Amino acid sequence: MCGIVGYVGARQATPILVGGLRKLEYRGYDSAGVSVWSEGQSRVVRCRGKLAALEDKLVKEPAPGTIGIGHTRWATHGRPSDENAHPHKVGAISVIHNGIIENHLALRQELAASGSKFTSETDTEIFAHLIDRAVRGGAPDLTTAVRQALAKVHGAYAFVVMNDKDPSTLVAAKNASPMVVGLGDGENFIASDVTAILSETRRILFIDEGEMVTVTRDAVVITDFDGKPRTREPKVITWSAMQAEKGGYKHFMLKEIHEQPRAVADTLVGRVDLERDDVVLDDVKIDATKVKRIIFVACGTSYHASLVGEFMIEALARIPVEVELASEFRYRDPIVGPGDLVVAVSQSGETADTMAAVREAKGKGAQVLAISNVLESSIPRLADWAFYTHAGPEIGVASTKAFTTQLVSMALFAIYLGRRTGKLAAPRARELLAELLQLPTKMKDVIDHGAQLQVLARRYGNAHGFLFLGRGAQYPIALEGALKLKEISYIHAEGYAAGEMKHGPIALIDEHLPVVVLVPRGPNYEKAISNLSEVKARSGKILAIATRGDTDIGSTADEVVLVPDCPVELQPILTVLPLQLLSYYVADFKGTDIDQPRNLAKSVTVE
Ligand code: F6R
Repeated sequence: MCGIVGYVGARQATPILVGGLRKLEYRGYDSAGVSVWSEGQSRVVRCRGKLAALEDKLVKEPAPGTIGIGHTRWATHGRPSDENAHPHKVGAISVIHNGIIENHLALRQELAASGSKFTSETDTEIFAHLIDRAVRGGAPDLTTAVRQALAKVHGAYAFVVMNDKDPSTLVAAKNASPMVVGLGDGENFIASDVTAILSETRRILFIDEGEMVTVTRDAVVITDFDGKPRTREPKVITWSAMQAEKGGYKHFMLKEIHEQPRAVADTLVGRVDLERDDVVLDDVKIDATKVKRIIFVACGTSYHASLVGEFMIEALARIPVEVELASEFRYRDPIVGPGDLVVAVSQSGETADTMAAVREAKGKGAQVLAISNVLESSIPRLADWAFYTHAGPEIGVASTKAFTTQLVSMALFAIYLGRRTGKLAAPRARELLAELLQLPTKMKDVIDHGAQLQVLARRYGNAHGFLFLGRGAQYPIALEGALKLKEISYIHAEGYAAGEMKHGPIALIDEHLPVVVLVPRGPNYEKAISNLSEVKARSGKILAIATRGDTDIGSTADEVVLVPDCPVELQPILTVLPLQLLSYYVADFKGTDIDQPRNLAKSVTVE
């Protein structure tokens, strides 16, 4: 996730680009840069750090001119640095990019073999080289050159390209990353979203998948990738700037819940090898056959993801797994050392307790893998290897898309290990990988049915407490459902292993207690149904999360929310979605501060 802006018109471009980037900083802030054309060539000014660092640099190195592009980066390929900051310039071509080029390794090798020199570690620079070659190879105009380059790349992208030799034109292309064009009088704009240009224009063209746009001062031409024209009426945006930043959603949390299919797809990009029935983890050089034990260390939601990871790795790779609360781990002189692989899971990569647990483990000779969402944050830097989720910046305090991308990472890691320990046969790996690729569509299906959770939230939102029950890999989802509800609605909630209910919490059940039971189809189904009946016999109100096609569950449960079927190892990635939506709508019904709940902070950097 990065932010992109382009401007062509009669005014100075740099203040407009920087103003747009300020609105897009929520999309990433590892580095920022602009490329602005004047007097025969474009000047690139870029640097590591937040936009403020770029603004300081622009004071010393001004970039005058009336056409330009700007970028704020959320690093995916290549650490945050000056060299990896966008725009990337090759010859006369400047490029900014949001997304991931999936075949970047093969393209880089091919280009390097025929003489291209690279100055960054990014996938984006490859695209600049391809366009430069197309231009030098005789492409009649920039649009054609971009089209020729696009034919070689696959992945998710929103690109904007500028050519020093044709300084009246910006060319943009979009596939699976957001892009809009803003229409002005004698000037036009390109951006990742409307917030970036809302102060300049409210007349917006939303660009669709597989479209290219050629933008000059006076014209905007949209075509598909084959050059066939596409027509579009501009939409007039009436949202406030704040609403627009949230993409029209009421809260960042709701926006982030809806972003999950895309975040999961991004996390899978380049990691699924269906030809070899395997997972590609280029940066993780673990000898799985030497790993005697895996110990997860994490806090909060990341701890719940780790509990699911335990289930996946033990099932698929048959390596023993323990899961530790990072805040407890280091204070009891843990028995850990060589032969152990410690996996530190942290969205922010900055949680102090998790960092301390990593130091403890490393100090005792264990190897450490970090699973994090923030490139080059402290925990991945401390670890031996890092596996990054590509959820993009998570702004709502309650973690949603970071959680589901952690679960997907756990599944990939479990398959990776299973293939290397020999415990996961190729056909089963193939089936799971194919199912992983189906997940974004299934997740969207669940989220699109969110209105049902809104109705349930109103029906049960006045309850004084909730109980969440699950078995197997659904137990951590019960914990996560309870945590989500507690933290944003301030309603007390408990997550319990369903089989444990009769050992205590069953005393809580009466007609006033809503009990959310996770009962997807699978080996635990019959047992979970028995637990559900125990609740029913005591007049508890049952909200069941079950598999689509389950026609029996309705006879026991008061409310049934159905999710699509998938293999049992991956079910948590679907069953958590209704729980996120339920918590969100309960909190919204109660009118709490959803994105910044009381007493909480997004990154907990104290122990
Ligand atoms: C809950 C939540 C927290 C975090 C926890 C760890 O919604 O977000 O429980 O999961 O503070 O944070 P990270 O993953 O950044 O280490």
